[in-house]
Amino acid sequence: MRPAQSPRWSPLLWLSLLALGWGLAGCYDMHDQPSFKPQEGPRLSSPGEAVPVQGTEILAPGKVPINPVAATEDSLAAGKSLFEINCAMCHGREGRGDGPVGKKWIVPCANLHQERIHRLSDGDLFNRITAGYGTMPGFAKRLAPEERWHIVNYARQFK
Ligand code: HEC
Repeated sequence: MRPAQSPRWSPLLWLSLLALGWGLAGCYDMHDQPSFKPQEGPRLSSPGEAVPVQGTEILAPGKVPINPVAATEDSLAAGKSLFEINCAMCHGREGRGDGPVGKKWIVPCANLHQERIHRLSDGDLFNRITAGYGTMPGFAKRLAPEERWHIVNYARQFK
């Protein structure tokens, strides 16, 4: 008896096998490729001469920082608008603790014209705005450090 003949594979079958292999290789490629979620590394580093104004903030716990932002006209103007956006609903536009949300808050929102507040240093005010105070929320994530200093400069005007 003659040995069974090897099946004759048509060129069409070869072609479709090739296409299948190609497709599978593609799948594995995509499966193994690196993928990154938003905000995940690797990130581009900032240019050498950049000043990290909005960058990571390093606050030494228990330390009172010194105000690095001069109370210029520009700083006071920025502080006023930031105060009206972020603080006035509780503390009132004039800082008297009578904003629309403030009137209904669990505890009275501090009147920023008080002698006690005047005696706080700029750094004390900055720390309270950054970390929050009692039931007042902190602004570490919502405002850049420089913006918080503008607000400190502006809040100094309440007498
Ligand atoms: C959701 C309402 C709310 C917002 C918004 C808010 N505060 Fe307050 N703030 C309070 C309350 C309430 C207190 C009093 C907390 C306490 O005595 O327990 C307070 C207290 C303070 C004090 C006094 C801290 C002390 O030593 O007694 C300062 C200063 C102050 N806030 C500044 C600000 C500034 C500046 C902003 C905006 C960046 C701001 N607050 C935003 C509710 C708010």
